[in-house]
Amino acid sequence: MDLFSSIDLEPERQRIDELSRLIDQYNYEYYMNDRSLVSDFEFDALLRELTDLERQYPELALPNSPTKRVGGEVNKTFRQVTHRFPMLSLGNTYSIEEIEEFEARTRRLLGSTPFSYTCELKYDGVAIGLTYRHGELVQAVTRGNGAVGDDITSNARTIPTIPLRLRGDYPDDFEARGEVVFPFKEFEAFNRQREADGDEPFANPRNAASGSLKLQDSAECAKRRLQFCMYFMMLPPDAQPSALASRLSTHFGRLEAARQMGFKVQPYIKECKDIAEIKQFIDHWDNERWNLPYAIDGIVIKVNQVALWDELGLTAKSPRWAIAFKFKAQQVSTPLESVSFQVGRTGVITPVANMKPVWLGGTTVRRATLVNADFIEKMDICEGDWLLVEKGGEIIPKVVGVDMGKRQPGARPVAYITNCPECGARLVRAEGEAGHYCPNQDGCPPQIVGRLEHFVSRKAMNIDNLGSERLELLYAKGLVHDVADIYSLQRDSLIGLESTDSDGVRRASIQEKGADNILAAIEASKQVPFERVLFALGIRYVGEVGAKKLARYFKNIDTLMDASVEELASVEDIGEKTAQFIFDYCHDDRHRRLVERLRQAGLQMELSVSNSQLSNQLEGKTFVVSGVFSRFSRDEIKAHIEQHGGKVSGSISGKTSYVVAGEKMGPEKLKKAEKLGIPIISEEEYLRMCQCP
Ligand code: IVH
Repeated sequence: MDLFSSIDLEPERQRIDELSRLIDQYNYEYYMNDRSLVSDFEFDALLRELTDLERQYPELALPNSPTKRVGGEVNKTFRQVTHRFPMLSLGNTYSIEEIEEFEARTRRLLGSTPFSYTCELKYDGVAIGLTYRHGELVQAVTRGNGAVGDDITSNARTIPTIPLRLRGDYPDDFEARGEVVFPFKEFEAFNRQREADGDEPFANPRNAASGSLKLQDSAECAKRRLQFCMYFMMLPPDAQPSALASRLSTHFGRLEAARQMGFKVQPYIKECKDIAEIKQFIDHWDNERWNLPYAIDGIVIKVNQVALWDELGLTAKSPRWAIAFKFKAQQVSTPLESVSFQVGRTGVITPVANMKPVWLGGTTVRRATLVNADFIEKMDICEGDWLLVEKGGEIIPKVVGVDMGKRQPGARPVAYITNCPECGARLVRAEGEAGHYCPNQDGCPPQIVGRLEHFVSRKAMNIDNLGSERLELLYAKGLVHDVADIYSLQRDSLIGLESTDSDGVRRASIQEKGADNILAAIEASKQVPFERVLFALGIRYVGEVGAKKLARYFKNIDTLMDASVEELASVEDIGEKTAQFIFDYCHDDRHRRLVERLRQAGLQMELSVSNSQLSNQLEGKTFVVSGVFSRFSRDEIKAHIEQHGGKVSGSISGKTSYVVAGEKMGPEKLKKAEKLGIPIISEEEYLRMCQCP
């Protein structure tokens, strides 16, 4: 039977193989050589054909299929993996003298043996190790603590510069190590999108890269356009001699060989013969680093000849054959011209230093945040001071102090405002909070417009025809004051609206077609599911995930609005502080009225049938859920059971039909289930039971 079925599928297997090779080749040319061999249309058609075949014949789908590039695998938790070879760190220094000492010591230790160095960039990203066996990527693990890291294979597969299958000659078993970086351009676009969606932007590309590798949904990771910069090839000590042997005897040769295998090895690596050449490389990149598309924070110097590494050995946790030179953050001092105060969507005040423009690390810096009143006080910033501004591996310049030598006698400390610069309301500072707030939620323009912007954003109501400028216009013309007013907008009052800036340049205008599009998007938003309506309300600390959990738990707005703080806090991911904010929000009459108006407008105020009742597959069955799952959180699997008509109970009894067990199921529950003879099923068996893919 097996024999027949495999013979039967041979044509499909061959087509899958053919498509995979073609797509791999097109990807390779595109990402490695910037060359498109086919149109996007043709490429998409091939990828679709392969995806369809894999869906139809899952047994033929290969783990390293190019379809894995687009992601789709979901990991709730990441498996911990012990590194086969510890991921060591490097000794590092900011001092060029210490680099001279390193070089002199290496020369002394190696005596008359001829050798050279390689100098390369020190990428400022997240270190990972990729294991390849027989030319296939089998595992990707983060550095973690050097001994144990997280298995992030499905996310790594979505990074286009990580080869899934190697080309040409390669060692049968090795590890490629390198850094995953988030290139500046992609990072900025990504952060802009986050802000537009009402999400907190990431502080720097490194954090964003690290967060991306830990995303549960690899399809999300695929969208981030991360890059892998390989810096090391780790061969097991008992590696079989291969055709490559002579090239693998130097670090430089290994990276060259890796390039032939399909890795995108950065071209900025230089073989240096002495300290003069090393210093030249360092100086060059200290200036040039701002022209690179990604962040680096130094230079790594390695002895090039692999055979000498053992001879030089290791110190406690880093090798003696390599060292990192770290660039100092660039610093300048520039006069403070004024301090302005910005008001955010939630009323938070942010003081901003306006400085005499100064050139720093590749860009002109004019403004930098002064964070809050405590920061200004701690830094002792006075009017007319020269501020010390620094730029590290990041893009955003930071004020790190005051150039005291340039302080004018009798300079007065920067005064913090007492009233809101936008609406004049007296500011408040809640106990234990460093920031000041403007409490005038309903009368302070940037807060009102900010709330409107959040409400219409993509992850909320997705009314994408209403950008910031149009919202400001609608607010300025008195047409929209709160989010419910959006639903009373009339075509006639929209057409012909126009705003200009102070120079008379037109900023926003609405014509007939624009008005129709806006109204259509507003109408469509009435179908946006309850959980996103909840997020759109902009309750402080209730993000996208929190809103989802609240919606699933309370099912409709009325139950949520009447919930106690304790009940709110019992929802997964909702802490005490957030629960209190939600409670206060719900017990403010203004918000109750607003929610009522939104309900009247036709917005979804309860979980939709499709969301709450997907099937009745599980009707009459009672489940107990225990342990940790890979596809669901515990709350999600419970909601899933209910959506399919089943009941969930907290404890095992004679009435329990099944126990759905994840990893680390409680031993008491296990014992009880066994004693009562209740079937214990896995997450997969459960999914099959309710006929979910
Ligand atoms: S070599 C034994 N080369 O810097 C050799 N590391 O402490 C180990 N890094 O976490 C590393 N760019 O992830 C090497 N070109 C480069 C590097 C590099 C960045 C990171 C590495 C490690 C840290 C060194």
